[in-house]
Amino acid sequence: MSQEIAIDIKDLKKSFDGGKTFILKGMNLKIPKGKITVIIGFSGTGKSVLMKHILGLHQPTSGSIKVFGRQLSDMSNEEIIKLRIKMGVLFQHAALFDDMTALENAAFPLKEHRRELKKEQREEIARHKLKISGLDEIHYHKLPAELSGGMRKRVGLARALALDPEVLLYDEPTTGLDPILTEMVDDLMYSTHRSHKGTTSVVISHDLHAAFRLGDHIVMLDKGLVKMEGTPEDFINTDNEFVRRFVNKGIRRKE
Ligand SMILES: Nc1ncnc2c1ncn2[C@@H]1O[C@H](COP(=O)(O)OP(=O)(O)OP(=O)(O)O)[C@@H](O)[C@H]1O
Ligand SMILES: [Mg+2]
Repeated sequence: MSQEIAIDIKDLKKSFDGGKTFILKGMNLKIPKGKITVIIGFSGTGKSVLMKHILGLHQPTSGSIKVFGRQLSDMSNEEIIKLRIKMGVLFQHAALFDDMTALENAAFPLKEHRRELKKEQREEIARHKLKISGLDEIHYHKLPAELSGGMRKRVGLARALALDPEVLLYDEPTTGLDPILTEMVDDLMYSTHRSHKGTTSVVISHDLHAAFRLGDHIVMLDKGLVKMEGTPEDFINTDNEFVRRFVNKGIRRKE
């Protein structure tokens, strides 16, 4: 297979207590370029910890992480920051600045990283990103508190897209949302991926339906390891008892 790899994780281990317990226990994972990879698994299995490693926010205890062929551990802080510019992130609560308007929020990364641009140019890009994220212009000058949950997600997405990232990471973008909003955000991720050719999307989700709807590639984590990876069809047809339980019953673990 000649599939290009955007993120390559080898034998990644992470302990937060000096090696007594490991949250990631030797994880091996290749995230294909240009595809949507959905990472699923029960709560507390290390999905967010994994994502923070990809962003260079956590240091591995051992093992390696390559992003676009470059080893994170070989990179300086400045290089990591530059790399992060290529990765747009959308968190569950969108994490907007409360005292900035939708437009200011969307323009924020440009203000930080594209200082050569004039204010009007930054604003124009931010407007475009808000537009493709589906926020109506009448909301651009509103504060997050004046926007609905769905609108805030759109602003968060616009901000994640501001610097034209090559990788889009979503950590639980729909957890806690009602079914209609969940579908809207799923559709938004899907259309964003399709309209940004070559972008690699990584979606961390509790939601198996989303995994099946969105994922080209699904990875299931369990207790700090990859339990299974494959296409949605592989997951539907698996004989693996543990995965079948997850697939059949959703994410609630039966104790
Ligand atoms: N900075 C940290 N220091 C110590 N322990 C941590 C830290 N971050 C996460 N952990 C622990 O690592 C484990 C995995 O956490 P993580 O947030 O990755 O889970 P998750 O799979 O994202 O769960 P959820 O689906 O609930 O978001 C948890 O037991 C958590 O307490
Ligand atoms: Mg998490």
